[in-house]
Order: sequence, then structure tokens, then C-alpha cells
Amino acid sequence: MMKVTVSRKAQFNAAHRLYNSAWSDERNDEVFGKCNNPNFHGHNYTLTVSVKGTIDPETGYVMDMKVLKELIHEHVEKPFDHRNLNLDTEEFKTLNPTAENIVVVIWKRLRPNINPELELKVLLHETERNFVEFDGEGV
Ligand code: NI
Repeated sequence: MMKVTVSRKAQFNAAHRLYNSAWSDERNDEVFGKCNNPNFHGHNYTLTVSVKGTIDPETGYVMDMKVLKELIHEHVEKPFDHRNLNLDTEEFKTLNPTAENIVVVIWKRLRPNINPELELKVLLHETERNFVEFDGEGV
């Protein structure tokens, strides 16, 4: 079966602090360095959401990109943009908001809203050079 991947880019600006409450301040400093700053710091996150599947013979689409754009807006940009991830986002009240955990949270927020026949992969850049990706493996 012929499959095609379609992707949509988006971005959001958010603050976070990397911290493990079970550890001492010294241990947090040692592991998270500047990212453990108690007053938080920000990133311009960019994400690429990719959906892979067969081309619908009627529309010629794998997925309507307008719909994908709206889903990203509703489930990622609206709740995360200009927010403090630790304080404002339910998932990160107990979960360290590393890029790894953020990409999993984004994938989990989007997955139920996308046709289960389509594969979903999310790529998240925290900086230009540091990025993570998740395709749902192990969920
Ligand atoms: Ni950071």
C-alpha cells in the first residue's frame, strides 16, 4: 500500500523549569544547570506534526491540512503559547517539562483527534540544534 507523509509546522513560546522535587538543590543544579533556574526561562519551540497514510482517492489528500492546522492550534498552541509549562499546564504539574516529555504530551493530545488509520509523528525543536521526536512507540 502506497503511503505518503504530510507535515505541518507550528510554534509556541513558553517558559519552563527543569527540576526534580525528590532531589536536593545541589543535585538539581548539577543535572539541569541553567534550566533549573527557579524563576524559569523561555524557549521558542517549533514543532513539525507529520501524518502518514494512504491518499484518499476522492480528495487526493492524506489529511486535510486545514484540519491539521486547527488541531495543532486548539491542542498545542492555545494551551502552551505564552504559558509557563510548569504552572499553567496540567500535565507538567507533576512531570518535568523536558523536550522529551513535551513531545510525548503533544503527541498524546493530538492522537485522539486524528483518524486512527493515520500514523502520527511529532518533531519538537527546543533550540535550533536540540530537537526530539516521538511516533507513539511504546504507548
Ligand atoms: Ni530550557
